[in-house]
Amino acid sequence: MPITWDKQTYDSMYRLPLWRWGVRGSPRVPYGHYTWFGHQGANELHAKTFIDLPGFAQVSDVVMIGGGFGWTAEKLVDHGINVINVEISPYVLAEKDQSEEQQLRDDLVKFGFDPDNLPVCIGPDYNTPVDPWSFWLRPDGKRTSITTVEEDMSTQASRQAVRSAISNNIDAIVTEFTIDSYAVDDDAGALQLIERCEQLRPNPAVAVIHMIQPNPSDTVLNVKTAQAWRDLLDANGYNHTVVDLKGNILTAGG
Ligand SMILES: C[S@@+](CC[C@H](N)C(=O)[O-])C[C@H]1O[C@@H](n2cnc3c(N)ncnc32)[C@H](O)[C@@H]1O
Repeated sequence: MPITWDKQTYDSMYRLPLWRWGVRGSPRVPYGHYTWFGHQGANELHAKTFIDLPGFAQVSDVVMIGGGFGWTAEKLVDHGINVINVEISPYVLAEKDQSEEQQLRDDLVKFGFDPDNLPVCIGPDYNTPVDPWSFWLRPDGKRTSITTVEEDMSTQASRQAVRSAISNNIDAIVTEFTIDSYAVDDDAGALQLIERCEQLRPNPAVAVIHMIQPNPSDTVLNVKTAQAWRDLLDANGYNHTVVDLKGNILTAGG
């Protein structure tokens, strides 16, 4: 049975507890799975991929589809871009205004660490100050500063709500590894996501950019390679851009 990517599947991934990275090979801290601090590097990289795209320097208002907690969106804000996030994940929507602290505490305890005595547990090699909590927790006590709207863009009203949330200014629509209820190897869900982005697009001058996982052998999150997305878009006449984290940029007919 191929994996079907629905709300339950990606939410169960978000909820995976701490990985014990580093604990096996070195005395580093256990690493959170979907945590703000743990994702800073990856989100920086994702944002840079967008920023470096030809023409992105002119972009000032972005709708991000499926941005999780909007951590990449926050990096785009650092570059002076106004971004809103569109999400349907019950996990993201329920947790976005909550602190991560309790989840981190629970996970640390689950893996045998004392959350109130971490420097001793972790040892001297970990490159945080004495109190890792000051690095792990966001100063705002939430998970995101990005406006996140709960919309699936399936109806005109839903798309209008998205447009209103960004004051009807959209320069670009980007998806970040967004997977909308479809089975691996099934084009229907991918086409549905593509079509919803197209319908949100106010006019053809607005770029639609899909960021795709780069590893063709990864059948979990990859779903399609950048080239397979390109072929699907071309076969159905969509003038969208596909990028992957290896820097491949595939434009219509390219
Ligand atoms: C694999 S996760 C990626 C999350 C985030 N972009 C990241 O890289 O951490 C895919 C996300 O797409 C969201 N999603 C799927 N279909 C969507 C839709 N129609 N509208 C908005 N978000 C959607 C899911 O809720 C999920 O959070």
